[in-house]
Amino acid sequence: MQAFLNTAIKAARDAAGVVMRYSRRVHQLDVRSKSRNELVTQVDVMAEELIVANIRERYPDHAILGEEGGQQGHGDIVWIIDPLDGTTNYLSGFPMFAVSIGVQVKGRMEVGVVYDPNREELFTALRGGGAMLDDRKLRMDPKKSLEGALIGTGFPYRMNDKWMEQYLNQFRAVMQVAGDVRRPGSAALDLCYLAAGRLDGFWEFGLQPWDIAAGSLIVREAGGIISSITDDGDFMETGNLIAGPLKLHGELEKLLKEHL
Ligand code: IPD
Ligand code: CA
Ligand code: CA
Repeated sequence: MQAFLNTAIKAARDAAGVVMRYSRRVHQLDVRSKSRNELVTQVDVMAEELIVANIRERYPDHAILGEEGGQQGHGDIVWIIDPLDGTTNYLSGFPMFAVSIGVQVKGRMEVGVVYDPNREELFTALRGGGAMLDDRKLRMDPKKSLEGALIGTGFPYRMNDKWMEQYLNQFRAVMQVAGDVRRPGSAALDLCYLAAGRLDGFWEFGLQPWDIAAGSLIVREAGGIISSITDDGDFMETGNLIAGPLKLHGELEKLLKEHL
């Protein structure tokens, strides 16, 4: 798995190079809308192509699930890629976006890499080997509780707007207990910030596998719990996520489910 991790890190840094090269002239990019509020540029596509080339060079037989390229090939080993998580931020010059690469083996996440090129922070995890921010091991506080906590979230601003009513009720309920709420705009980084203790909990509806593949392993390896808000599958299937350290996760889960 260490070799997969090294490849993922190299690929993420290469992709981040492309992302940053265009970051000061985003107004020159062609922006296309995939669906409501879902934007894509040639930077997303070029960054993903670079990641795929890195993987193909070493592992030509592995399957790839990329946000832009879709499913390529089948097999036990799947690389799950979001070449630019936080495209809306990127296009506004709001410096909160990242490259996310996860490796799944027989349905289980084994490797996670999220690279933030603005702060040059590298979040990594190997299943059973812990989670790291650069060379620092990450450990969440299992005794942290919801009262006074800083909670991260994502809004239902796209196709996930079918959850709007439930979400707004949940938002009110969380605001009444928590210390404050943040919506940074990159789910992959939100999960890493949770693992690093910069956020105490997180929830969002309608995420995609590439948003959460790497970040979910990083949270779990930092000692956190992730589950689905809804009961129709596990969180990778539903994309409806609650995440946090043990005690807070239980409290947040109870509160959110009261408003489903
Ligand atoms: C988005 C970001 C955002 C989340 C959206 C995602 P994208 O990813 O992670 O925080 O709220 O649901 O789709 O489209 O910028 O890669
Ligand atoms: Ca994304
Ligand atoms: Ca993306």
